[in-house]
Amino acid sequence: MEDKISFFSVRQDLIQLEEALGYDLFVNSSIVKGKEKFIRIFPLGGILHKHEVEEFHKKYIQLYVPETQRSLYLKSLVRSPIGDIEKTTVLKETAIEYLHNIFDSGKEFSTEILSEGIEGCREVVANMVDVLDHHNIESLRGMIGNLSFHDFYTYDHSINVCMYCISLYKAINPKATKRELMHAGLGGLLHDLGKVKIPTHILNNPGGLSDEDYQQIKMHPDFGLELLLSGHCTVDENIDLNIIARVVHEHHENFNGTGYPKKLKGKEEIHLLARVCTIADFFDAITTKRSYNDVLSISDAMNTMRKFKGVKLDPDIFDIFDKQVRYVKSDFARDITLADSFDPTLPYAKLPLAEAKKLEKEMDYGKIKVMDPPLKKKA
Ligand SMILES: [Fe+2]
Ligand SMILES: [Fe+2]
Repeated sequence: MEDKISFFSVRQDLIQLEEALGYDLFVNSSIVKGKEKFIRIFPLGGILHKHEVEEFHKKYIQLYVPETQRSLYLKSLVRSPIGDIEKTTVLKETAIEYLHNIFDSGKEFSTEILSEGIEGCREVVANMVDVLDHHNIESLRGMIGNLSFHDFYTYDHSINVCMYCISLYKAINPKATKRELMHAGLGGLLHDLGKVKIPTHILNNPGGLSDEDYQQIKMHPDFGLELLLSGHCTVDENIDLNIIARVVHEHHENFNGTGYPKKLKGKEEIHLLARVCTIADFFDAITTKRSYNDVLSISDAMNTMRKFKGVKLDPDIFDIFDKQVRYVKSDFARDITLADSFDPTLPYAKLPLAEAKKLEKEMDYGKIKVMDPPLKKKA
């Protein structure tokens, strides 16, 4: 019956060595595509040595772990001595698979798929919280820059926002519990969930959006809320779906009450994690390259965002974010402004920027003393 379960491939260099293996290792013994026959070549609990893995790899090329043991695999990966970039890359790839299952428009959407996807995301976020434990936003930025690049902007963006949310929340509350950090991360990972109900041609149409299209895009917080609270979605009891739903619903609310969908205002009305997510979402939208727009340097991004303090963004959270991100704060920085209408969720062909002309101090040439030209040496 073994060939009925699904498997995922694992990288040879990331397999646990010299200690009890946390999962079973399989190979595919069939060369017929679509008729894979998986055979266990090494059992959970056994101790593997480097030369054995190399031997396996030579013989079978690809090694697999059963899908049912994915969480065991991720746990042992996170505990292993490999670098954090490697760990994050695997977690990111895993998240992409789950997000793809949720967002894949080819599939009939069902609450079962959603529940499974959210459970997978929870697993990834739990491990992500552990990996990010000794990172701050600054070192995280380096890691995000190093992660592999995919065509699926929504997935990359969601994962980046998830990571920023975890780090930013930790900066706000250094004593945050793992559960709180998981809510921050899951909120970030799922913030744009409602986009699953919006046709892709609208979501990915840079520049050509009609008013009607924009109205439809603006429905995504409501759609996300509906999906999560439809009552059919089951998640691990450690996760409070209501908190995630508030992040999903409120991440486009502006601090001054001009956002959507409810025009909620300030700390009292907008959930803390939603205010965290708004900053993460905004920052990633203007600093991560989408296929069709240009991005801002970190200092331009921060100077631009600063103008939205108290307008779109929670000023106190922004200050904490600002302290964490290292960049050159210089008087000579470009004075650029992002249009008030900027919405990080929209696919801009070009960011709506205006570069304010600096009032250059008029040079007062009249007062410049013209020095006497040096006397020519007499020949
Ligand atoms: Fe959004
Ligand atoms: Fe977003």
